[in-house]
Amino acid sequence: MQDLKEKIDLTRLPRHIAIIMDGNGRWAKEKGEDRLFGHFHGVESVRNIAEGCAELGVEYLTLYAFSTENWNRPKNEVNGLMALLVDTIHKEVETLNKNNIRLHVIGDMDMLPHFACEELNEALEMTSRNTGLNLVMALSYSSRWELVNAVRNIGVDVKDGKIDPETITHETVEKYLCTSNLPDPELMIRTSGEYRISNFLLYQLAYAELYFTATRWPDFRKDNLYEAILDFQGRERRFGKISEQLQAG
Ligand code: IPE
Ligand code: IPE
Ligand code: MG
Repeated sequence: MQDLKEKIDLTRLPRHIAIIMDGNGRWAKEKGEDRLFGHFHGVESVRNIAEGCAELGVEYLTLYAFSTENWNRPKNEVNGLMALLVDTIHKEVETLNKNNIRLHVIGDMDMLPHFACEELNEALEMTSRNTGLNLVMALSYSSRWELVNAVRNIGVDVKDGKIDPETITHETVEKYLCTSNLPDPELMIRTSGEYRISNFLLYQLAYAELYFTATRWPDFRKDNLYEAILDFQGRERRFGKISEQLQAG
């Protein structure tokens, strides 16, 4: 594990890592347990990976914790996840502060139960002065929800004469997304062997490097993160250009 960490070039770290934390349910079922047992153990991975990112000096870590579509899961799983969320946030604020981690949330907060919103707002406020890792939780989030919202709000501002449609650029669109104050993710990791994006940051991932691993989220630890970062560092990011242009600087 130590070896992997030492191989990482700290001058070329991804500024922003986004993770689709998948496989909690399968991890639990493989152990003959209830799906919620998997979610419970997934929290340990969140702690470990947030600490790993903070230690390396990654600036932003976005974790997909609950999608808009996840509201359609069986009621007991949704309720269990909400309870786990509130309980975890409550317990972790102290550790976040100790590690200088600032919490952010993206998603449709109006969908969350009142008690969850209150707990979240408190944690956002209590960590707002931290200057280390920015930990962004995507909760009740989906990219299509975000984009529809953005288009609607742009429409309102055009109608009110605040923006001229002719002047709309990609920077304008970015301003209306939940991620307006975040750089685009450079590395996106999905655990548990699924090769899809599942409505996560569709706009922001335009040029992200994608990394898929079969490891289930509750088994994902710092050494798995280091492997993903090393893989990222071995890639050539061309942004539409050709290799020779990049080498020429
Ligand atoms: C990811 O694990 C956590 C959430 C989506 C809340 P899953 O619950 O999707 O686990 P699998 O994919 O069914 O194994
Ligand atoms: C994506 O996982 C959402 C989160 C990890 C929060 P899902 O398990 O919900 O995605 P699908 O249904 O396999 O695409
Ligand atoms: Mg899943």
